[in-house]
Amino acid sequence: MKIIIYPGSFDPVTNGHIDIIIRAARLCDKLIVAVANNESKKAVFSLEERVELLKRSLAGMENVEVTSFTGLLSEFVKKNKASAIIKGLRTVSDYEYELQMALINKSLSPEVETLFLVADIKYSFLSSSIVRELAKLGGNIEGLVPDCIKETVIKKLGNN
Ligand code: PNS
Repeated sequence: MKIIIYPGSFDPVTNGHIDIIIRAARLCDKLIVAVANNESKKAVFSLEERVELLKRSLAGMENVEVTSFTGLLSEFVKKNKASAIIKGLRTVSDYEYELQMALINKSLSPEVETLFLVADIKYSFLSSSIVRELAKLGGNIEGLVPDCIKETVIKKLGNN
């Protein structure tokens, strides 16, 4: 069984993430969407909220599982017997950062590959931080996050 891990902060999940998840799920038997419990990167949404928003957004996707992890990604990948990590690339600066992460993970676990999917051009400007900023300032986030989580995101961040 080919298992791929899609890790991230997902603070919150965007339609750019969903696009990568749909495409990545076609490449494997099981895609594990893994939400990082990263103490050094303070998230706005709690770990439980980020997992719940993903689960709600991905309901009905047969071969996609959502979970969280603490500690090193390379260890989580090995523990789950996954063959690869998958990440989306929007820009050259994404590539520079992701290349560094891929090389670190390769040095920690040489058997684990990192695959990159090029983001759809219509999501190349989209990030969780843009969604947070827009929602906070009362901007329209329609089309940027899954419809089923839009109100929850606005409720959490709006009117600040
Ligand atoms: O969505 P993001 O913020 O780009 O995701 C980054 C993430 C969570 C994939 C990355 O920070 C990560 O892998 N964190 C786990 C800790 C780890 O293994 N770091 C690499 C070695 S320093």
